[in-house]
Amino acid sequence: MKRIKSGIPGLDELIEGGFPAGRTYLICGEAGAGKTTFALQFIYYGAQHGEPGVFLTIDEKPEHVVEDAESLGWDFRKFIEDGKILMAEITPYFSGVGKIPHQKIIEEIRALISQIGAKRLAIDPIAPLVLGGGGESATAQTAIRGYIRNLIHALDDIGITTIATSEIPTGTNQLSRYGVEEFLASGVIVLSFRRGETGFKREIYIRKMRGVNHSMNIYSYVIKKGLGIVISL
Ligand SMILES: Nc1ncnc2c1ncn2[C@@H]1O[C@H](COP(=O)(O)OP(=O)(O)O)[C@@H](O)[C@H]1O
Ligand SMILES: [Mg+2]
Repeated sequence: MKRIKSGIPGLDELIEGGFPAGRTYLICGEAGAGKTTFALQFIYYGAQHGEPGVFLTIDEKPEHVVEDAESLGWDFRKFIEDGKILMAEITPYFSGVGKIPHQKIIEEIRALISQIGAKRLAIDPIAPLVLGGGGESATAQTAIRGYIRNLIHALDDIGITTIATSEIPTGTNQLSRYGVEEFLASGVIVLSFRRGETGFKREIYIRKMRGVNHSMNIYSYVIKKGLGIVISL
C-alpha cells in the first residue's frame, strides 16, 4: 500500500514508512500539545515534496495560522502563491435541530481539494465543524456522530490522506469530543504531557494504526523552530 510520509522526524519509522494513503488520521491532545504544529508540518512537508495540501481551519483566520507557521520557520506564503498550499476557513454548521448538511460541507471540501489537486488535507480541529459546546441534547449528539461518520467516510472515498486534530478536554481520558472520531479514523496518534520534576515533558504514542505493525512505545518529543515536532527515538 502507498505510504504518505508524515514529515515528522522520527515518526515514519514507527509506522512502517508513513501513513497508509487515502485515509483519515486523528491527532489527539490537550491544548498546547502540538496538534496544530503537527498538521502544519504534515502539509508543509507535502508542499515541499510534490504533494499539495489543503489546510482547513474552523472559525479561525487562516492568516493567523500562516503567522504561526512562520514563527516555526516555515514559509507558507511561498507555497500558497505557488498553489501548493491552500488555506481555507469553514464556518461550522448548527447542530441544534434537524439534519446536519454534511453533503454541503463535503462538497465545499471537495472543491478546495480539486482547486489545487491536493493529496493532503488537514482539518484543525474536526469537532467544531459542528457548533456546540459539548452540552448538546442526546438527539443532537446522535446527529453529530452520524455527521462525523459521513464526513470521514466521504473523505476516505475521495482518496485524500487527512490529518484531523482533536482537542482532548484537560483532565479527562477522552480522545475526542464526541467519542466516535477515534473509532472512525484509520489511525490515532496521541500527544500528551507528563509532569516531571522540573516541568512538563512532551510525549507521543500511536494508539491505533489500521493495517500497520506500529510501535506501542511512548516517545519523547520537542517542538523546535525550523523543525517543528521532533521525536527522540
Ligand atoms: N515558534 C515556535 N518555536 C518553538 N515552540 C513553539 C513555537 N510555536 C509554538 N511552539 C510550541 O508549541 C505549542 C503550541 O502548539 P500547538 O500546535 O499550537 O498546540 P495545539 O494545537 O495542540 O493546542 C506552544 O505552546 C509552544 O510550546
Ligand atoms: Mg491547535
